[in-house]
Amino acid sequence: MLAVAVLAAGKGTRMKSELPKVLQPLAGSTLVERVLASCRHLAPQRQLLIVGHQAERVEASLAGQPGLEFVLQQPQHGTGHAVQQLLAPLEGFEGDLLVLNGDVPLLRPATLEALLEQHQRTRAAVTLLTARLDDPSGYGRVFAADDGRVSAIVEHRDCTEEQRRNPLINAGIYCFNWPQLAAVLPSLTTDNDQGELYLTDTVGMLEPAMHQEVADAAEISGINDRLQLAQCEAALQERLRRHWMAEGVTFVDPASCTLSEGTRFGRDVLVEPQCHFRGATSIGAGCRIGPGCLIEDSRLEEGVQALYSVVRQAVVGAGCSLGPFAQVRPGSTLAEHCHVGNFVEVKNSSLGAGVKVNHLSYIGDADLGERVNVGAGTITANYDGVRKHRTVIGAGSKTGANSVLVAPISLGENVTVGAGSTLTRNVPSGALALGRARQLVKENWSGPQSG
Ligand code: UD1
Ligand code: CA
Repeated sequence: MLAVAVLAAGKGTRMKSELPKVLQPLAGSTLVERVLASCRHLAPQRQLLIVGHQAERVEASLAGQPGLEFVLQQPQHGTGHAVQQLLAPLEGFEGDLLVLNGDVPLLRPATLEALLEQHQRTRAAVTLLTARLDDPSGYGRVFAADDGRVSAIVEHRDCTEEQRRNPLINAGIYCFNWPQLAAVLPSLTTDNDQGELYLTDTVGMLEPAMHQEVADAAEISGINDRLQLAQCEAALQERLRRHWMAEGVTFVDPASCTLSEGTRFGRDVLVEPQCHFRGATSIGAGCRIGPGCLIEDSRLEEGVQALYSVVRQAVVGAGCSLGPFAQVRPGSTLAEHCHVGNFVEVKNSSLGAGVKVNHLSYIGDADLGERVNVGAGTITANYDGVRKHRTVIGAGSKTGANSVLVAPISLGENVTVGAGSTLTRNVPSGALALGRARQLVKENWSGPQSG
């Protein structure tokens, strides 16, 4: 039997933020979401999240997570006090308790698996994760014998100069035998520099207490301030890029690009400098993205080319070309081989195969049939000041430069709209529509004479 508890009640004073620390973002998810994800594959029987500072906000951010029990720690008197709050909800629980710090977000699932495996094999009372750091400052130091037995953990601020030279640190990840921990939790004291109840003090009361050292110390980086947040983001981005390079993606300038955990790439994608992929995004094989693109919660099919463009919550069909400087906004679907060119905005619209909107246009709340050719500067006027209305343009139609289509309006197939037209009424298939002042020419006109 396994229960997991994540400590997420602290304020995170060192972040100097209105946001609770565990809700700070990292590669598109919050710290606490990442921590919860790192133990999901262990399929624990119970999953408890200890909340306190801005508890409602933390709970609301995790409302969609099934099976998560929120345990309130109010006020917050330290990590030991946090775990004391589990005495009631875990009363009678006979298994192991995995305790994770809510601010240690880079843990690999395999690392937790190995910790649990050692803990169960050795039948220790507690097994904690440790690392050897070149710069251990800030972390609790772990004092252990060569056989892996831990005698004590001393917080950095409580250490003597001599103790601070110990490079072995506490990662804040522990596997406890719950009944044994429950027996010693009530005897914690506040005898330390912060006057808090430290979970780390239980280690000296449990027998045997063991540790397991992680191979890659980057995994257990704790986030206490903005510098560490940035360092973790960089480490995570590096990990994501390496993964996709191994899967056949070329990054011309990897360090200039960022990915989300939910980004997927097909083979032979070429990513030029300064591209950012967010949310649940998939990029089809052979796409050429960038330089300078932002793609969020979108699907790009095979062979799309995008240059200095922004795509959000949209689907872009195979072989489309976007930009430079195109914006494809939420709710848009482009069929294959569309061209959306410079300074074109497409919003909540569907474009049939082979549509061309090459220059300076706004296409909003519109449905364009196959091969529609939208002339430079064409605008769908979708908003009457109160409501949005749709524009429909049938297959093969062409709009002249600077046309305004005032929605709701429907153009049939193979319609031609004269340049500079403002249309407010429907146009049947095959028609030419002109909605502009007739040109007047006065010959031999020298204009008003001065003087
Ligand atoms: C803690 C460990 C330290 C370890 C480090 C690893 C203790 C006493 N120290 O120190 O040995 O090296 O983590 O990153 O445990 N929290 C609560 N309730 C509280 C206080 C904290 O839920 O009353 C939560 C915080 O939200 C955070 C986690 O516990 O997610 C750790 O707290 P933090 O104050 O960051 O501990 P550290 O000083 O980093
Ligand atoms: Ca911390």
